[in-house]
Amino acid sequence: MPDAPDVPDGPTGQPLWHGRFADGPSDELLAFTVSLGFDRRLARDDLEGSRAHVRMLGAVGLLDDADVAAVLVALDTVESELAENCFVFVPTDEDVHTAIERRVIEIAGDAGARLHTGRSRNDQVATDLRLWVRRAGRDAASRTHSFQETLLRLAEECGGDAYLPGYTHLQRAQPVLLAHHLLAHFWALARDVERWRDALARADVSPLGAGALAGSSLPIDPDHTAQALGFARRFENSIDAVSDRDFVAEALFVLALEQVHLSRLGEEIVLWASDEFAFLGLADSHSTGSSMLPHKKNPDIAELARGKAGRVIGDLTGFLATLKGLPLAYNRDLQEDKEPLFDAVETCALSLSALQGLLETATFNFEAMRAAADEPATAATDLAEHLVRGGTPFREAHAIVGNLVRQSAERGVPLEELVMTEPRLGPDALALLEPGEAVRQRTTPGGGGPDALGAQLSAARACLVEQLTWLEG
Ligand code: ARG
Repeated sequence: MPDAPDVPDGPTGQPLWHGRFADGPSDELLAFTVSLGFDRRLARDDLEGSRAHVRMLGAVGLLDDADVAAVLVALDTVESELAENCFVFVPTDEDVHTAIERRVIEIAGDAGARLHTGRSRNDQVATDLRLWVRRAGRDAASRTHSFQETLLRLAEECGGDAYLPGYTHLQRAQPVLLAHHLLAHFWALARDVERWRDALARADVSPLGAGALAGSSLPIDPDHTAQALGFARRFENSIDAVSDRDFVAEALFVLALEQVHLSRLGEEIVLWASDEFAFLGLADSHSTGSSMLPHKKNPDIAELARGKAGRVIGDLTGFLATLKGLPLAYNRDLQEDKEPLFDAVETCALSLSALQGLLETATFNFEAMRAAADEPATAATDLAEHLVRGGTPFREAHAIVGNLVRQSAERGVPLEELVMTEPRLGPDALALLEPGEAVRQRTTPGGGGPDALGAQLSAARACLVEQLTWLEG
């Protein structure tokens, strides 16, 4: 997040609402209430909203063509001044909306002073933020999509050969293909993209035309602006339009859950990169050293992806706490919607690209994975299922094999030897302990073995194609 804007160097003006006030605002008031430091990000959306609003004012006859044209020219000037970094903010610019309107008035005079006709900052700021969320949400979904592409490519590359132990309770459970494990993360992220689509569809409502809270006595046309801004529809209730920040809360939830997904992936990378697992080697470019311990190579990206989940969850819960006590309609508390949202969007975007780079440059240690997965005990379930195929009830088969594993551990006898001496298992059972056999035995749809992988890879590919259709639409 950039530093708060310093007290601007331009001429000291008056607030746009100065009429009611005999005295100007105190320094403390300005220092505490000004939101320019963070809401400058909304400049582009504010310009878009103002263009739609002024065209609507022209269309309904509240402004003549000359005034509309003058305001549009002024808005273009503001846009270039902002782009060229020569827009001069003044201390009484409370926020980017006020700053832009003030400048439009300076440039276009009376025509500029007509821009805010039938509009309040309450519907203006809600509109601008929805426009911003629409862009940011699509961008976040597109970054997620790109991350999924990396996971799918890695899964395709390691294909049906590379396998590792799958874990439950962080204890070796059953071997699975590495591709299968990577795709588990792919599907979590696919749901994040789905959640973006869902949340953005609900956010697709224009609040512009709600005014301060109750609409207007002037013949403004909220449908006109809704359509011009590309919203699916306008608000049904002007109070709800200016009070509703569900779209911010939902975006924050999507981001918090997505960051939780990245955190869980980060945790696995941390484990896999340890000497204890040694499943993953990190590229120098995507790991860090220690200031004191010369031998260290640390997985800081993965740790921060994990650590930052706390921060994004905080963005969500903090904002929900802001909302919970608010009466209808607009309250200045709602200005607190922006920083958590911007922070969560930026944090998640940075986490995605750093983790993506880490995965693209890391090397999987297939040997270490295979060695860990070929430990005979990970085939215990297959031995039990072998008995089941011969007619033994599963619970009994479980006990028989469990007993063999216990004896193997207690007496230090290899499981293979005990399997050979167990008549109920028979001579075929030994083949189940062959290296790689346990993963080949995972044959069911959606399961972790090579038989099922092809279908899953196709489904993942189709998911990306479908996402792309939406992203490009
Ligand atoms: N900067 C404010 C916000 O983000 C703008 C709205 C202020 N409206 C008002 N009536 N004081 O919420």
